Amino acid sequence: MRECVSIEKISHYEGQKVTLGGWLYNKRSSGKIVFLQIRDGSGFIQGVVVKKEVAPDVFQLCKDLTQESSLYATGVVQKDDRSKLGYELLVSHVELETQAEEGYPISLKEHGTDFLMDYRHLWMRTPKQNAILRIRDEINLAIRNHFHENGFVLVEPPVITPTSCEGTTELFEIDYFGEQAYLSQTGQLYAEAAAMAFGKVYSFGPTFRAEKSKTRKHLNEFWMVEPEMAFVDFDGNLEVQENLITHIVKTVLKNRKHELSVLERDTTFLQKVEPPFPRITYTDAVTMLQKADFEFEWGDDFGAPHETYIADQYEKPVFITHFPANMKPFYMEPCPEDPNVILGADLIAPEGYGELIGGSQRIHDLDLLLQKMKEEDLPQEAYQWYIELRKYGSVPHSGFGMGLERTVAWICGVEHIRQTIPFARTLNRIYP
Ligand code: 4AD
Ligand code: MG
Repeated sequence: MRECVSIEKISHYEGQKVTLGGWLYNKRSSGKIVFLQIRDGSGFIQGVVVKKEVAPDVFQLCKDLTQESSLYATGVVQKDDRSKLGYELLVSHVELETQAEEGYPISLKEHGTDFLMDYRHLWMRTPKQNAILRIRDEINLAIRNHFHENGFVLVEPPVITPTSCEGTTELFEIDYFGEQAYLSQTGQLYAEAAAMAFGKVYSFGPTFRAEKSKTRKHLNEFWMVEPEMAFVDFDGNLEVQENLITHIVKTVLKNRKHELSVLERDTTFLQKVEPPFPRITYTDAVTMLQKADFEFEWGDDFGAPHETYIADQYEKPVFITHFPANMKPFYMEPCPEDPNVILGADLIAPEGYGELIGGSQRIHDLDLLLQKMKEEDLPQEAYQWYIELRKYGSVPHSGFGMGLERTVAWICGVEHIRQTIPFARTLNRIYP
């Protein structure tokens, strides 16, 4: 193949003659000049083709190029302060790889999101979608680096599981050689086992929820990062969370300025992300809502308007702590001062993006765990291995789950979470 340079690195080649391999995103022409908007996956650049500077057949080729045709463009890299990139290509030669068929479905006019989701395989080529998925990649890497540098071991839990963890109504069932099995809702229970083997671990993978919700915050397949830590209590758990979120935000602000500007993201709130994050108990949050004339009783679950109202009282993500025990799963450690509430917290993002993280200290006492499982009617045989973790060297431990797509949505400032994953799975969508 030809030696091609990438648009992302184009500043290194100012004044030099280079070749790019890419696709035609858009084109404008007058009689004597053609402007080619070329993308190569790493960025977008304008190529300027002047009639008298190139061979006649090359000029004709450029005039006839269809949207998304693939090509090699050779030319000199020149500074151009009017473009976002800061450079353009003074084209001396263009070679066609493949002329795209006429009628590319995504024209440059506005389309509805449902239409675009049908063409997700092509939509991801456009600047904003490209920027979102690049920021997702940056966040992925920031998470892995952060945990690696802080002594956490990545341990992958299975995706096919025999039991549930977060409640039985939201499970995708599968037939496992005649036995009933499920797609995993969370890797947590396995991460707890691994924490007793490695001390500090995290899992990072796809998780599945068969919930029939159509909100802008729910996917049926999403990625979750789930740290789990031995000898860490409720407070230590919150510190790990605020440090993780801060690291992610700072990394994106530093390394993905261009993408944030493509998304026209106002970064005022992101700039303020710094530990410690404010904390409010569930009970105080209820009082806050009641004072603001919401109809809300102690024991009710927060809906989107409640979460947004609470988040709007702060400039940073906020922890809501000490939820009623019966609202949360069986494994959460009760608060010693008041066993009706748990040593857990949800982290709510600013700007209406809702819950980014759910986490807690875990029950490590054998008898208490058995009692809770009984109350929730969980079959002990199936959880035998999980119970054994409390029999053999149990220690206080804590962990949490952070939804990757919600984090990407918040940082990118995109309305709907379906744009933050390459190919979304939602109630009404399993194509493409
Ligand atoms: O609060 P959740 O359900 O917590 C757990 O599954 C725990 N077992 C995690 C743990 O402690 N290891 O989910 C955690 C996070 C949520 O805060 C949210 O960000 C994301 O996962 N999440 C979803 N994201 C997209 N679509 C959905 N349907 C989601 N459900 C949860
Ligand atoms: Mg939750």
